[in-house]
This record gives sequence, structure tokens and C-alpha cells, in this order.
Amino acid sequence: MVDGEFFDISMRRHGFLLIVTLVILYLTIRSSRESQYKRNESDVQWKRKQYDAQLLIYNRVQKCGSRSLLQAIRPTLDDNGVQFGAENLVYWLTKEAEAEVVSKIQNFSQKNTRSLWAQHIHFLHFIEKPIPLYINLVREPVERFISHFYFRRFLDNGKKKANMVNGMINEGSYRQFNQTVNDCVLANSKECTALKIWKSGMVPYFCGDMPICEEPSEEALKIAKNNIDRSYLVIGLTENFNDFVEVLESMLPKFFDGLKIHNSIIYEYARGKTETKNKEAQQPATENTLKFYEVE
Ligand SMILES: *[C@@H]1O[C@H](CO)[C@@H](O)[C@H](O)[C@H]1NC(C)=O
Ligand SMILES: *[C@@H]1O[C@H](CO)[C@@H](O)[C@H](O)[C@H]1NC(C)=O
Ligand SMILES: *[C@@H]1O[C@H](CO)[C@@H](O)[C@H](O)[C@H]1NC(C)=O
Repeated sequence: MVDGEFFDISMRRHGFLLIVTLVILYLTIRSSRESQYKRNESDVQWKRKQYDAQLLIYNRVQKCGSRSLLQAIRPTLDDNGVQFGAENLVYWLTKEAEAEVVSKIQNFSQKNTRSLWAQHIHFLHFIEKPIPLYINLVREPVERFISHFYFRRFLDNGKKKANMVNGMINEGSYRQFNQTVNDCVLANSKECTALKIWKSGMVPYFCGDMPICEEPSEEALKIAKNNIDRSYLVIGLTENFNDFVEVLESMLPKFFDGLKIHNSIIYEYARGKTETKNKEAQQPATENTLKFYEVE
């Protein structure tokens, strides 16, 4: 067997594992309640944490509707006297850089009795109090991947940004602007290989920035699940967006009292605005290939 073949086969194995992992995580979240991952109501320790929550972190997974959610959350927090903090996305931090972000969030949270921090960032490790409670919103992985693929090319409304390179958001020169998701999958282009799908996928948000989280593995999945168990109060599904809004409001009224109303006020406006344009219909072959990647 030549090296090339071995690489190919091992990547396919990775692809297999990756997708199983993505789907398992998604299904775990999906099955734990009808529409979202949620604590057992009779878990007293968690009731306590929920009641006493001072600091919430929403480490927003990209392309799952986090902007829509935040549009409803922002005015709700203002009404409830909760301070809001946010920064730009950063991924794959060193241990030192992660500690710096943690320290910044801790300092921020000292300024008010209740705070919500929102950022596209992978799971952060807190050692000192206040230990945050996490929330998040996830989406069916194939849908999310396709949405992300076109978002890199067209953003939300086909508008261009200054930092775009070769017509795309500047985050990897290996991407080909003129490809469709069909081309990319069928040609097995780098953007659509298991490793790249994994690295910008959902599991690292729950696993963290450790090297082990960068590649598909059972271990990374286990870490992600443990973090969910220990630190996440609730994880919603984009497909059940409005249910998630209701759950947030009922679980954390000191933060989210009124969220449902704010959500219904901005509902139509926000949805139209963040729907990624130029999504093409999938050819059956691609649909099957993606499914193959996703579930085989
Ligand atoms: C919730 O926890 C209680 C007490 O530990 C247990 O009896 C019950 O079966 C749990 N419910 C679910 C849905 O896991
Ligand atoms: C947080 O506050 C402490 C104490 O005032 C300070 O030493 C530290 O540099 C601050 N961290 C950041 C990231 O600003
Ligand atoms: C698409 O773009 C790539 C790189 O920019 C180029 O090599 C390729 O020929 C293009 N394909 C088509 C069909 O235009």
C-alpha cells in the first residue's frame, strides 16, 4: 500500500468517526428532552446552581441562529438589569491565552450581580468563582455545514467585507470561491474533508481548545459530553428555536424574564436578515455523499 492510499483510507476512517461523533453529540442533545438538552427537574444541586447563577456564558456555535437569539436576548437583559459582554470570535487558544480570556470574563462579571457573556469561542475552563453556567444552541450538522459553507462566500446578503480574500472570509486560502458544496464534497476538496469539517464543527465548542479537541476522536467526544454534563444548563436546537426561548425564560427568569415577547417582536425581522443567501439545492449525489459522511 502506498502512502497516498493509506492517507486516503485513514482520512475516510476519520470521516466516519467524525460524522458519527457529530451525529451522536447532536442526537444525545436531541434525545435528552423533546426539543433540547435540559437538566432533570429533580436534580437539587442543579436547581441551586440555576437559582444562584451570576455568570452565564453563551459560547455561541456559529451558523445555528445565535444572532437571532442575541437580538431577542439583548433588550431582555436590559429590562432585567443584567450586564452583557461580548467579543469577537477566537478559536484554538493557547492555555495562557485561554486563562487571559477567563480572567477578563471574571473581571467583567465582578461589575454586576448578573452577567451574560457571548462569544464564538470554545469551552473555557474556570477555576475560581464565579463558576459560569453555560448555554448554547446547536443545529442539525449537515444543514449547519452547508450554511457555513455558503456563509463564507456570501455572508448573509451577498455583501462583501473588507477582510475578504479571494471573495471569501479570510480564514483559509485552500477554499475555492467558485465551488458549490456539491463540487466540494464530490471532489473531496480540502474544505470538505473530515478534518476541516471537524475543526470548524460543533464538537470543539464543547470540548475546548486542547490539542485533543482538534481532531476527530472518541476521547474528544467524551470530553465534550463531560463538559456538557458539568457546565451546561441547557442547549437548544435551532429547529426548535421558539421552544428554546421559552425554556430559557422559564429556567432563568432573573436573566430572561420577557424573552418570549422580545423574540416575537423581532422574530420576522431577524429571521429574514440572517438567512444565508445563495444556498443552492443539493444534487441527490451530494446529499447522499454528505449523508454518507454524516451517518455511515
Ligand atoms: C430524575 O432524577 C430522579 C431522582 O434522582 C429520578 O428518580 C428520575 O428517574 C430522573 N428522571 C429522569 C427523566 O431521568
Ligand atoms: C483582572 O483583574 C485582576 C485584578 O485587578 C488583574 O490583575 C488582571 O490583570 C485582570 N485581568 C484582565 C484580563 O484584565
Ligand atoms: C475555480 O477557482 C479555482 C481557484 O480560484 C480555479 O483553479 C478553477 O479553475 C475555477 N474553476 C472554475 C470552474 O471556474
